Amino acid sequence: MEFSEVVQQRQSIKSYQPDKTINDAELKELMQEVVLSPSSFNLQHWTFIAVRNPELRKKIQASAWNQEQVGDCSVLLVICGKLNAHEDAHKIYQDTDQEIQDKVLPLINSFYDSKNSLQRDEAIRSASLAAMTLMLGAQNRGWATVPMIGFDPEAVSELVKLKPNYIPVMLMALGYKKEDPRPRSYRRPIEEVVRLDTLDGPGLLG
Ligand SMILES: Cc1cc2nc3c(=O)[nH]c(=O)nc-3n(C[C@H](O)[C@H](O)[C@H](O)COP(=O)(O)O)c2cc1C
Repeated sequence: MEFSEVVQQRQSIKSYQPDKTINDAELKELMQEVVLSPSSFNLQHWTFIAVRNPELRKKIQASAWNQEQVGDCSVLLVICGKLNAHEDAHKIYQDTDQEIQDKVLPLINSFYDSKNSLQRDEAIRSASLAAMTLMLGAQNRGWATVPMIGFDPEAVSELVKLKPNYIPVMLMALGYKKEDPRPRSYRRPIEEVVRLDTLDGPGLLG
């Protein structure tokens, strides 16, 4: 599919065919694209918990405003961010030149160490960029998605056994749509969302 077609066709889908499956091999192929997403210092803060177990799905659904798509989609992904991902830098950079490691590793450490709010921002940024790749990759395969923040983060963390250094950034339903989505929802005009030079500058007209 043409990239612009993928982007145009993606919409948040809330109604899924519960009997349809996406198997491990199919999911793996998608995830191989997802992990090509960018992240600061290539720290790859993301972890994806693919939930298929029906009992667990029901419990997560109950902690997610009982949203139907949480229970009905083929795979529910809990997209997590690792708060202390900077501590993995030595592993990520182990095959790079020693000279680069000597420069980058202390820089990464001093940039993130003890900065809780920055660590959280970065975990959310990286996981969110990966989530976007996931939605587009899924769309390209004819699958449907919807990202969700409508859930209780503490309850979901407990259900999928997150350790304290991980946060659930969003849930993502992945599966087959039951029906065509409603018409595309309202988008703010480009001249309003793109400002030239400063926030109070003129809008992009083109
Ligand atoms: C971070 C985030 C959280 C969202 N949370 C929910 C949610 O909990 N439930 C839901 O039905 N849709 C959720 N959505 C979907 C939005 O409502 C949807 O993206 C928006 O209305 C634009 O529509 P579109 O995705 O079809 O273009 C969320 C989207 C984002 C990006």
